[in-house]
Amino acid sequence: MNFAELKSRISELKRVKNAIILAHNYQLPEIYDVADFVGDSFELAIRARETDAEVIVFAGVKFMAESAKILNPQKKVSLPDLTAGCPLADFATVEKLRERKKEFSNAAVVAYINSSAAVKAESDVCCTSANAVEICRKLPAQQIIFVPDRNLGEWVAEQLPKKKIILWEGHCYVHSKISVEKVETAKKLHPQAIVLAHPECPREIRELADEVLGTGGMLNFVKNSKTAAFLIATESGMLERLNRETHGKKFFALGGECLTMKKITLPKILHSLENGESEIEVEAAVAEKARESLERMIELTKK
Ligand code: 13P
Ligand code: SF4
Repeated sequence: MNFAELKSRISELKRVKNAIILAHNYQLPEIYDVADFVGDSFELAIRARETDAEVIVFAGVKFMAESAKILNPQKKVSLPDLTAGCPLADFATVEKLRERKKEFSNAAVVAYINSSAAVKAESDVCCTSANAVEICRKLPAQQIIFVPDRNLGEWVAEQLPKKKIILWEGHCYVHSKISVEKVETAKKLHPQAIVLAHPECPREIRELADEVLGTGGMLNFVKNSKTAAFLIATESGMLERLNRETHGKKFFALGGECLTMKKITLPKILHSLENGESEIEVEAAVAEKARESLERMIELTKK
């Protein structure tokens, strides 16, 4: 089947099965074309929680599909490729987190949404790149164990100097690979460009940036900016979103591809709609506690 046939079959099945496709900003361009909604992790979680559709096909990575299932357990949620995980999420395990909680018994635990359901269940509240600072600021606790992204945790600590943020040794390989040299060379080539960096980038990259923003924040910033050129320090798929939603602006990618994000393809989405594979299940006790952490995040995030 060619792309056009795949897309038309997917549209038909979405209608027949009362299904929606939620896609992360890093997905492939052809996935954007079949998606009902494209967004960042927070926006996707909200869409999943509020949808009336019976089936959610998630074009993203596993923690995103899991969060959708936790927030809207009555729905069938499927991830077209179950091996599409997030290596950053794998840095945190429940066992290690329990040890850390014993060590810092007065600390609250904030779990970045890029974590397993089990880690969310062991945490007080979740956050995404869009609300990490806001959530940590609003928590009454002065000490916070921030899991599992060290760079995002460090960035939060820089914004909230009065709080003690206990960092975790986890990182995203896509953002960690962005080199100072690459950013500096690109800045020389495009001296008028504004540099936008995702908070998962290491400190030396964040320091070279004009703004540190999650993917949704990047899109809003660009839309409201009069500047015509931007250097984008995040996963390269973000350029598709930026290009589609703006006119006359130029974007230059500083980051590479997230290989697991790119595992989602049109044939796999079609297969998922036809067969319901692979359905996401989260053990009830874990889901209940993880839901509390996700709901608390939503409650604490300004409208
Ligand atoms: P956003 O929530 O900013 O889209 O980030 C998700 C992610 O996985 C970044 O690598
Ligand atoms: Fe995980 Fe990094 Fe891929 Fe985002 S870009 S899904 S943090 S591996």
